[in-house]
Amino acid sequence: MQIFTTVADFRAWRKQAGFVAFVPTMGNLHEGHLSLCDAAKARGGKVVVSIFVNPLQFGQGEDFNTYPRTFEDDCAKLAAVGVDAVFHPTVEQLYPRTEQQYKVEPPAIQNELCGQFRPGHFRGVATVVTKLFNIVQPDAAMFGKKDYQQLKVIEGMVADLDMPIEIVPVDTGRAADGLALSSRNGFLTEAERAEAPRLYRNLIAIKAALEAGATDFVKLTETARADLENHGWRVDYVEIRDQQRLEHARPGDREVVILAAARLGKPRLIDNLEVNL
Ligand code: PAF
Repeated sequence: MQIFTTVADFRAWRKQAGFVAFVPTMGNLHEGHLSLCDAAKARGGKVVVSIFVNPLQFGQGEDFNTYPRTFEDDCAKLAAVGVDAVFHPTVEQLYPRTEQQYKVEPPAIQNELCGQFRPGHFRGVATVVTKLFNIVQPDAAMFGKKDYQQLKVIEGMVADLDMPIEIVPVDTGRAADGLALSSRNGFLTEAERAEAPRLYRNLIAIKAALEAGATDFVKLTETARADLENHGWRVDYVEIRDQQRLEHARPGDREVVILAAARLGKPRLIDNLEVNL
């Protein structure tokens, strides 16, 4: 496995790499990331993983400085699953002139759901992913469905800006008790970790109700919010949206997704569940 820390060195390798499937990450890799690598590997070409904690997508007071950086461990895991190349630039490599950085501006969806609580986050994601796409020049790129809004922002960006890249959604990896795998789970105390699957259980309860014909979306989401708050969570949102455009779902919509974000102790956890009625 080759490791590149500069854009120039990576570009030289890319010239002879042929078909590339790309997995962008911020490191601290878990099974969820490795399943993205498996999906990339299944494409038959070379697999490139980027590891870069992107300052542009963290707001003031968010966890950029404390975000876990575990590069050696990450590389061991990536080598074991047969990744061909790792791109691991410094902040200075990717943002040599922070003051005048051009940015990629997603449409209004960037201010809803997680965007409402993390102003500028999706602009930071769209900008770094564009830069990584321009450097890596992938044929396909893998994105986890766990970050559902991120996946939709990237799908929209690639379509609207004519980027010749296939975006491949990959199902959320889960622990045996249902908790969605996330780098931030490591910040949960033992008691919080035991409580954490409640988020997914509430999504499952809403899904079951929708499948049984429930149409009062406000009641369903408020019930979930109350259950979480009664157990010590601070809830940002629980919402039901349509899968394609993430607009508020309406009774009669057939492809919806239930999305939730809430804080349990320090970490903020997100999860979602698609429902096809
Ligand atoms: O999902 C992530 O880990 C990040 O948002 C991404 C796509 C690597 C961009 O920094």
